[in-house]
Amino acid sequence: MMGASSARSFTVVVAVLCLLLLLPSHCHAKLSVKLSTKFYAKSCPNVERIVRSVMAQAVAKEPRMGASVIRLFFHDCFVNGCDASILLDDTPTFTGEKNAGANANSVRGYEVIDAIKAQVEAACKATVSCADIVALASRDAVNLLGGPTWNVPLGRKDSRTASQSAANANLPGPGSSVASLTSAFAAKGLSARDMTALSGAHTVGQARCLFFRSRIYTEPNVNATFAALRQGTCPQSGGDGNLAPFDDQTPDAFDNAYYRNLVAQRGLLHSDQELFNGGPQDALVRKYSGNARMFANDFAKAMVKMGGLVPAAGTPTEVRLNCRKVN
Ligand code: HEM
Ligand SMILES: *[C@@H]1O[C@H](CO)[C@@H](O)[C@H](O)[C@H]1NC(C)=O
Repeated sequence: MMGASSARSFTVVVAVLCLLLLLPSHCHAKLSVKLSTKFYAKSCPNVERIVRSVMAQAVAKEPRMGASVIRLFFHDCFVNGCDASILLDDTPTFTGEKNAGANANSVRGYEVIDAIKAQVEAACKATVSCADIVALASRDAVNLLGGPTWNVPLGRKDSRTASQSAANANLPGPGSSVASLTSAFAAKGLSARDMTALSGAHTVGQARCLFFRSRIYTEPNVNATFAALRQGTCPQSGGDGNLAPFDDQTPDAFDNAYYRNLVAQRGLLHSDQELFNGGPQDALVRKYSGNARMFANDFAKAMVKMGGLVPAAGTPTEVRLNCRKVN
């Protein structure tokens, strides 16, 4: 552990290097020090209770919604920082992120965020950003599904714009190699260890047949029983939208089963199995598969780190009143 003062001088050194060298990929996370877990302590003391209660209802009604909100946070943070840019609706004159390749007909949970925002606005008008709501909601989703909890640094602001092309460029696809996954996360200041821990979110939720078809029909490193099971609802042609759980044993439990599945060659996506395929992440996957606590700790830390990605300095921001449109 770094002491407070050495941590502070480290931050200053990084900030100075950022300014001198203009290395945005290494700067996002370190410049997020202004976020604080106490940000709304005076201005909206009930915000965490409100978010938790709406999320609890949503997850009780449909456990998959927890998974969907966790993913929403990832897809927000990887595109110009955690700024709720993903929540902006397209209009006739504005093209946002919702219809980017990785998001269209895929990302879910927008209505739950709207429901939370409505209650938060009623309690504390024009105070809590949509970006902070997503960060809190995803933390609660993990915990409501049986995973760890953690304190969420707050004080994010909402973007006044969104970028479909940035979404297409920054969100890794399911066909990615471990090398390209590692570089996609490194571009956000996240380590390979962060990447492997964050991928453990694929212990909950579902994917569509079109994303795992080639894996279950053509890849050599797949358990045959598992491939046959998945082929049952994912035909060689057609059925692109048919869903399968990432983890068929405990599909709605936020546990370390994802890693046990990888060790058993039961990863659903090609990109999942890349983390355990004789490559650089094998040792860590094996550790997480046998140590649920180590995974839970690393996951929580990596979520805070990812949540520290903020828009580039000077980007115009606001606290949106309606998460779907700029004020
Ligand atoms: C490492 C690179 C990653 C790739 C290539 C990837 C890819 C995918 C794909 C293709 C799906 C299925 C989408 C669909 O069928 O429409 C999915 C679902 C999901 N992803 Fe990822 N993902 C990655 C990392 C992450 C991370 C870092 C998180 C969160 C921390 C995450 C959370 C989820 C969740 C929870 C679901 C299920 C959502 C639901 O059921 O609604 N993923 N991912
Ligand atoms: C595949 O998984 C099944 C359990 O569903 C197991 O019985 C079998 O031994 C596994 N196959 C291989 C080759 O590991």
